Amino acid sequence: MIRGDVYVVTGATGNIGQRLVEKLLAAKLKVRAIARPSDRLKALASKGAQAFPATLDDAGSITHGFTGAKAVFTMIPPNYKSENFRGYQNTISQVLSASITGAGIDYVVNLSSVGAQNSEKMGPVNGLFDHERRFNQLNGVNVLHLRPTYFMENHMGAGEMVRKMGIYGSPLKPDVAIPMIATQDIAHEAAERLKALDFKGKSVKELLGPREYTMTEITKIIGQVFEKPELKYVQFAYDEAEKAMQGMGLSKDLSALYIQMLKGFNDGLFKPTEPRSAKNTTATPFEQFAQVLTTVPVKTGKTSKRSATAGAKRR
Ligand SMILES: NC(=O)c1ccc[n+]([C@@H]2O[C@H](COP(=O)([O-])OP(=O)(O)OC[C@H]3O[C@@H](n4cnc5c(N)ncnc54)[C@H](OP(=O)(O)O)[C@@H]3O)[C@@H](O)[C@H]2O)c1
Repeated sequence: MIRGDVYVVTGATGNIGQRLVEKLLAAKLKVRAIARPSDRLKALASKGAQAFPATLDDAGSITHGFTGAKAVFTMIPPNYKSENFRGYQNTISQVLSASITGAGIDYVVNLSSVGAQNSEKMGPVNGLFDHERRFNQLNGVNVLHLRPTYFMENHMGAGEMVRKMGIYGSPLKPDVAIPMIATQDIAHEAAERLKALDFKGKSVKELLGPREYTMTEITKIIGQVFEKPELKYVQFAYDEAEKAMQGMGLSKDLSALYIQMLKGFNDGLFKPTEPRSAKNTTATPFEQFAQVLTTVPVKTGKTSKRSATAGAKRR
C-alpha cells in the first residue's frame, strides 16, 4: 500500500489530541482529525485540519479515516458509562488494530500509560496492557507506546472544590510522591516522534513529568493560585469516593477501577520501569500548569464529577 502524506490523530479534540493536531499543523503538515462531530472538531477544520467525524467503535469508518496516512496517533478515550470498561477498551483497541492493518499503516504513536506492563491491579490501565499487547502483534508496523504518568489535568476540578468546599481532597494519600505530567508535554512528545518517525519495531517510552509531587505539595500550590495559603488537603475514604463517583453518573465498574488505580498509587504499585532521566522528564511544572485552574468556571448546583473524583475521572 502506498504511504500518503497525512498524519491522522484520533481523540483529536481531547487534551492531547487537540494540541497534537495544532503542533502538526504549525509544522505545515497535513493532518486528519478524528473525533465525534462537535464544534471543537469544526474549529480544528477552520485551522486547516481535515475533520473526519467518526466513532472509534466503527471499524469501517476508522479504516477509511486511516487510509493514506503517513503515520497515526492512536488513543482509547474514556467511556464513563461503561459497565465493562476493560471490554470497552478492548473493543476500541480491536477496531484501531484492524484499521491499522486494513489501511496498511507503517507508523503508530500509541497513547498508553505508566503501569501498562501490568495485567492486573492497575484499574483502567489494565485495558492498556491488553491494548499494547494487541498492537505488539501487528506484523511489520512500527509502534511507539507512550506511557505518560498521572495527568496534571486530573486536578482541573480543584477550583470548584476549593471554592465550594474550602478544601482540596481525593483518595490519594497526602504524602505519597507521584510523578505528574501536563498533557501539553505528551502532545509535544507525540508530535516530535511523528515528525521524526525515528522508532522501529515495537518500543515503549515512559513520560514522567518534571518531578514527583505529593498531594500536600499539590494542595499548597493550588492554595497559592487561589490566594488561600491555608488550604488543607483531605484524604477521602475509598468507599465514599466510589459512591460519589457513582452518584455523579460514572458506571459502577469504572468507579471501582478508579478506586483500584488510586489504591495502586497509594500502595506504590505504579512504578515506572526506568529511573527518572532527561529522556523521560518533561518540561511543564505543576506551579506553571496550576495557573489554568482559576479559569475553569464553577458550576452551579451539585459538585461536578471532576471535583468530587479529584483525579480519578479523567484516566
Ligand atoms: N488521566 C490520566 O492520568 C492518564 C494517565 C495516563 C494515560 N491516560 C490515557 O489518556 C486518555 C485520555 O487522554 P485525553 O485526556 O487526551 O482524552 P480526552 O481529553 O478525554 O479526549 C478524548 C478524545 O476522544 C474523543 N472521543 C471520545 N469518545 C469517542 C468515540 N467513541 N469515538 C471517537 N472519538 C471519541 C473525544 O472527542 P468527542 O467526545 O467529541 O468524540 C476527544 O477528542 C485516557 O483514556 C487514558 O487512556 C490518562
